[in-house]
Amino acid sequence: MAQSDLFPGSAQIDASAAVTEADDWQARSKWLRAELNRHSHAYYVLDNPTIPDAEYDKLFRELQAIEEAHPDLITSDSPTQRVGGAALSQFPPVRHSLPMLSINNGFSESDIIAFDRRTREALKVDGEVEYATELKFDGLAINLRYENGMLVQAATRGDGATGENVTANIRTIRGIPLRLHTDHPPKVIDVRGEVLMFKSDFIKLNARQRESGQKIFANPRNAAAGSLRQLDPSITSRRALRFFAYGIGVLEDAEMPASHAGLLDWYVQLGIPICDERAVVRGAQGLLNFFNSIAEKRKQLLYEIDGVVYKVNRLVDQKKLGFVSRAPRFALAHKFPAEEAMTVVQDIGVQVGRTGAITPVARLAPVSVGGVVVTNATLHNEDEVRRKDIRIGDTVIVRRAGDVIPEVMAFVPELRPADAREFVMPTACPVCGSPIVRLEEEAIARCSGGWVKCAAQRKGGLLHFVSRRAMDIEGFGDQLIEQLVDKHVIKTAADLYKLGFASLAELDRMADKSAQNILNALEKSKSTTLARFIYALGIRHVGESTAKELARHFGNLDALLHATEEQLLEVADVGPVVARSIMTFLADPLNLELIEQLRAAGIVWPENTPERNHSLLAGKTFVLTGTLPTLSREAAAEMIEAEGGKVSGSVSKKTGYVVAGADAGSKLAKAQELGIPIIDEAALLQLLSQNKQ
Ligand code: IVH
Repeated sequence: MAQSDLFPGSAQIDASAAVTEADDWQARSKWLRAELNRHSHAYYVLDNPTIPDAEYDKLFRELQAIEEAHPDLITSDSPTQRVGGAALSQFPPVRHSLPMLSINNGFSESDIIAFDRRTREALKVDGEVEYATELKFDGLAINLRYENGMLVQAATRGDGATGENVTANIRTIRGIPLRLHTDHPPKVIDVRGEVLMFKSDFIKLNARQRESGQKIFANPRNAAAGSLRQLDPSITSRRALRFFAYGIGVLEDAEMPASHAGLLDWYVQLGIPICDERAVVRGAQGLLNFFNSIAEKRKQLLYEIDGVVYKVNRLVDQKKLGFVSRAPRFALAHKFPAEEAMTVVQDIGVQVGRTGAITPVARLAPVSVGGVVVTNATLHNEDEVRRKDIRIGDTVIVRRAGDVIPEVMAFVPELRPADAREFVMPTACPVCGSPIVRLEEEAIARCSGGWVKCAAQRKGGLLHFVSRRAMDIEGFGDQLIEQLVDKHVIKTAADLYKLGFASLAELDRMADKSAQNILNALEKSKSTTLARFIYALGIRHVGESTAKELARHFGNLDALLHATEEQLLEVADVGPVVARSIMTFLADPLNLELIEQLRAAGIVWPENTPERNHSLLAGKTFVLTGTLPTLSREAAAEMIEAEGGKVSGSVSKKTGYVVAGADAGSKLAKAQELGIPIIDEAALLQLLSQNKQ
């Protein structure tokens, strides 16, 4: 077969070369193998990509085609042979030639100082001990056995003595060389290290899993473990696993390096991935400095770690120190306080937010997570509880990262009791007893009590009202609002302005001076802007920018209060959902009463005449796109312009309406992206006729 039969247009082989055809293919496949392996190594091990993915894929397909036509040319270290063989029914056990040990943990500075002291004493040294420091990867320990340079077996740690044979799956990890980069390989070498998944790959994997309705992984470690435990290697091959080497088992017919750092340097030469975040340091202070520097950059690392590892650098010293039970005396893991912990869900309750949103919350048996005792963790919403299938009685993994709210990540299937109970969304609000409703198109269930009936919403609404971007009333924190509402001193925002010195000074932890400051702040807040006032009302879907648009458009409060839904829709920023929400708010007599009371309390702002003039269409820009059912574009444009509107050819933030007909294309998409109202011909005609009235 000629090259051009395989790859039309490919001219990478000189067909006239004075070699036989078979030699030609052999040479080409050898070159392709080396080339592909070189690129994989650059990408996965050196973190320094040398060719674009598409280029790699092209070379890969060429090699595949050659091997298909000439199966005798296939070698076991060919990159095409990473995913091979049928699915297994189980992983056969592998007995480790040398046990895979665990490692002792330290948590505090004094643990580290004690470790260094024990080491110095055991080694009988006066000066500082030299340590190799590296990261404690949060993945799974793996042993890779190479014989005469070829990867022959990969096994999990298992119980340390016996693991599972996961060779087929490990071969799919492109950073792991199938053949060592040396002409003089050891007869046998056991390379030990960690398989893990990068954070970004974990996020992508979970997104894919979610889309296809499959299992969501709690963290990158579980994702790596789940991926490695797939019986079908073709699944593992799609799972972006990585490997970092940090140790050695058996070594035959080769000289052992003198130090741990030397071992890692040797691995670099052999093409085995190791992590760059490593150092050689001296003494306890050197260890602590390394720990602190890594703690600082932990967030920026591409993978998760749960601490750092210290190892006495010289291997003769390691040997001298030996082992205690199943852990070496020469190594110590200095761990970060755990950000994840396991605990039991004792109950699932709900919390009511400012807008009445009901959030399921897991009530947990107290557990320390990252140094803080956690008893509650959010489950976000009802769908999330079902998706993660969290039940009362389950043992769960709880995570708390930085200052985010603790979150239930997943349950542990093996520990689910037979009587685990499913969460049932209550039908009544736990705070005010009003019915809980969930609209079909919404993920969130809400208390229907509003802030009039529901104390939780009242507190939330008041906190929003006083917040900096709303009425900006200084001195009101969570606790003050809580007290005022619980003691029935205030019910609505209007009541805030009725507060007197006496009622404030009576409250817990309220000094006279603070009470006076609060009264001053309330007084000051009375002079505000219409935009702030609208925003402070806490109308659902009316954020700060929509409030500003509403204020600008209507100019004064009465114009807004009397606006029709159509008129609301004319405001930039206001779509059908927002318009509906404003209409609902203004239809409630209690809300209107509140507004009147606030005005009566003396809240003022500069008022303008509305921007509206005699024509509803004046100043509005229309964009026509697609084929309208009856009107030609020209006719539609003429009608719009006759009513004072403008017609433009392109969609921007300033566009008032997009009139879309059949086969509308990019302009429609742009309008959707920008949230510009999209109408059809019928709606346009209605708008035009309304304007005439
Ligand atoms: S050395 C001789 N180095 O920690 C000690 N282990 O608790 C053998 N681990 O199962 C382990 N990063 O999965 C070592 N840089 C590192 C490590 C590391 C993570 C894990 C490994 C092992 C466990 C020991």
